[in-house]
Amino acid sequence: MPLLNPAQTGVTLPGPAATLLYDDWYPALRTARLRRGKLAKALLLDIPLVLGRKSDGSVFAMRDSCPHRGIPLSAGWFDGQHVTCRYHGWEFEPCGGQCQAIPSLSSHDRLDPTRIFATAYPCEERDGHAWVYVAGPGTGRKGEGVAEKPVPELAKFGARYRSAFLTADLPCDVDHGIIGLMDPAHGPFVHQAWWWRTRGSIREKTKRFEPIPEGFRMSAHAPSGNSAPYKLLGVYGKPVETTIDFVLPNRRTEVIRCGDKWFSSLTTVTPVTASTCRIDVVAAWNVFYHVPLVTPIARFFGAKFVRQDQVTMIQQAEGLRHNPSLMLIDDADKPAKWYFALKQARLEASHSPVSESRPGALEIKHPLDGPVELHWRS
Ligand code: FES
Ligand SMILES: [Fe+2]
Repeated sequence: MPLLNPAQTGVTLPGPAATLLYDDWYPALRTARLRRGKLAKALLLDIPLVLGRKSDGSVFAMRDSCPHRGIPLSAGWFDGQHVTCRYHGWEFEPCGGQCQAIPSLSSHDRLDPTRIFATAYPCEERDGHAWVYVAGPGTGRKGEGVAEKPVPELAKFGARYRSAFLTADLPCDVDHGIIGLMDPAHGPFVHQAWWWRTRGSIREKTKRFEPIPEGFRMSAHAPSGNSAPYKLLGVYGKPVETTIDFVLPNRRTEVIRCGDKWFSSLTTVTPVTASTCRIDVVAAWNVFYHVPLVTPIARFFGAKFVRQDQVTMIQQAEGLRHNPSLMLIDDADKPAKWYFALKQARLEASHSPVSESRPGALEIKHPLDGPVELHWRS
C-alpha cells in the first residue's frame, strides 16, 4: 500500500488552522532532492521556500521570492554559487541572502547591491533532512534564537547501523497530527494486525511520565508485552528498555535498547500550511544487522503503519471540515493535554514583553510538576 500524496488524499476543503510555533527547526525536505545546480521548492509553515546545495556542499533555504518584484527565485538559475533571478538578473549568495550584483546598474548609479538581502533561513543537513530554522515574523532576518537551539538529530549508539525514512502528507492541522502521534488508545483499532495489536490483545497499561524541558518523557520501561516486534527482541535474551520523549515544537523520539543492540527513531509532524501537515520518520538500528532484507522489511512494516495513520487522518479531516467541538479524556488523552499546555505556555512566553528584554525569562510554565503515572487500556 503506497502512501498518498496530498492530491490523492481527496480532501479538497482545508480544515481548521492551527497556531504555528516559530523560532525553531523544522525539516523542509529530503536532501536527496537537492541535485547539483538545481533548485528545489518546499512549503513550510505557509512559507514558500527554495532550497539548494552549493558546490562546497552547504545547503541553503531562501524565501522563494525575489526582494525586487516578488517573482519566485526558484524560477531563476543556480550555478552552484549564486541564485540568479530570472526577471532582472539580480544575483544572490543563497546562504546569507546577500545581493551581489544588479546587472542594470550603470556608472551613474550609487546603489550598493550588497546592502540588499533576500530572506535566507538558517539551514542544516542532518539525517537526510534539510532542517530550516523558522524565525517568528518580525524577529529579524536570521532569528536570534538560532544559536541556543541545536539542530535536531536522530540519536545513534555506534557507527554501524541501518536506517530508513518514511513520509506521509496529512490533510489535518499540525495539532491533530501531533496528538494523533502521541495517542495510545488508537493502536488496537487503527493498527490492527497480527504482528502488532488486535482488539483481543487490549490490556491495562500503567506508564510513568516525567517532565523534560519543553516536553515530557515516557520513562524507561519494558515495552508492551503484547506487540510482536518487541517480542522479537527477546531473542537476544537481554532486558529490553524503551524511552519515548516528546519535545516542542513537533518531535517524538523513541529509543529501544537491549544490551548493545538498539533501535532509534525520530518522528516529526511539520506544518506545511496552517491547516495541513506532514509526518516524517527517520529511524536507525543495529538490531538484526546481519539479517538479509531487514531494511526493506522494516520499511514495509513502517510504511504500513504510517499508512494506517494517514488513512485514519484523511477520514478525520472529512469530519473536521465542519468544525465539530471535540473532547480530550483522562488518562488516554492526557499527553495531548500536556502538548496543548506546553504549546500555550510557549506562545505566551514568546509574546510576553518581559521575555524580550530577558531571554532567560523564556522558561515556560510546565504542565507537569513531577513524575506521574497514567493508566489506560490498549
Ligand atoms: S524581480 Fe528579481 S531581479 Fe527583479
Ligand atoms: Fe498510529
